[in-house]
Amino acid sequence: MPEQLRYDGRVVVVTGAGAGLGRTYALLFASRGASVVVNDLGSNRHGDGSSTASADAVVQEIRQNGGKAVANYDSVLNGANIIKTAIEAFGRVDVVVNNAGILRDTSFMKMTDAQWDAIHDVHLKGSMKTTQAAWPYFIKQKYGRVIFTSSNSGLYGNFGQSNYSAAKLGLVGLANTLAIEGAKKNVYTNVLVPTAGSRLTEDILPPDLHDQLKPDLIAPVVFWLCHESCAENGSIIETALGWAGKCHLVRSSGCVLRQNLSANVTPENVQENWSKVIDMTSAKRLNSIQEATGELLGFIENLQSENSSSNKVDQVLTNN
Ligand code: NAI
Repeated sequence: MPEQLRYDGRVVVVTGAGAGLGRTYALLFASRGASVVVNDLGSNRHGDGSSTASADAVVQEIRQNGGKAVANYDSVLNGANIIKTAIEAFGRVDVVVNNAGILRDTSFMKMTDAQWDAIHDVHLKGSMKTTQAAWPYFIKQKYGRVIFTSSNSGLYGNFGQSNYSAAKLGLVGLANTLAIEGAKKNVYTNVLVPTAGSRLTEDILPPDLHDQLKPDLIAPVVFWLCHESCAENGSIIETALGWAGKCHLVRSSGCVLRQNLSANVTPENVQENWSKVIDMTSAKRLNSIQEATGELLGFIENLQSENSSSNKVDQVLTNN
């Protein structure tokens, strides 16, 4: 049996921890020794209203089980206050699980600025504000773990969720850069793509599936990703039903659309080559922006050699 993974001496902030997924994370972290900040605004699923009840109930449950927890009722937009609660109560912060979430579904045609902004505020800006407040502590102590919660709606799209999809994929972009900025300081950022039965999904998922998709089955994945012995960084981890897998973007090997460096690209060149542009049979992942730029430089070199070989042919023809 491997040794039990513990969080003794660690301080974990879980946003939106008063219900659903966040609640199960808070309970699991606390049961393994972490001091937990249980943040929850106590709003309804659209983000309206507020209440201290849900965060208080989770804190009470943790304390009854012998664990350590404090409540925080701020919106994630006031991330600095959430981190302040961690510092004041426990003197440090080691992990931020950005989990708080709401929905404001409507078709793109009917989407208002208010519906767009509410979703971006909670999911994208709220995750940024909370993480940014913890970041200086992470960098200074050379240890920190961040989770951003994305969604299949972000990765693949979903009718009526243009606001949510955009914000959720925005978190992937944010994580990509934080993973790079934190890497050398042992500050690792990963993205979680969960599917779970909760009040957010109760009218979306079929009842049988909803009941099977237990948040408890997702919490251990978050727990492992945030553990000091986990070296995962910059990954997108999808998980549900006791299954987990890693997702990433891949790019086709593509196709050069012109003969040489001095040639232009016409719309017809694009049309003629389109099937090669989108052929994914030898698609691969590029691991960094440097690799992507390096590939572009490779295309220039290939085109230059095309240029020089056609120049040589021109020269031979001219000499003769
Ligand atoms: P939930 O509605 O059960 O829990 C979300 C919690 O966040 C609520 O307790 C709510 O009061 C709190 N909250 C909302 N706005 C807040 C704010 N501004 N500040 C602080 N707390 C706030 O939802 P669930 O399903 O547990 O979702 C958790 C996260 O997982 C969300 O980010 C959601 O978008 C994401 N997610 C959930 C999926 C699912 O299948 N349940 C699928 C994909 C993503």
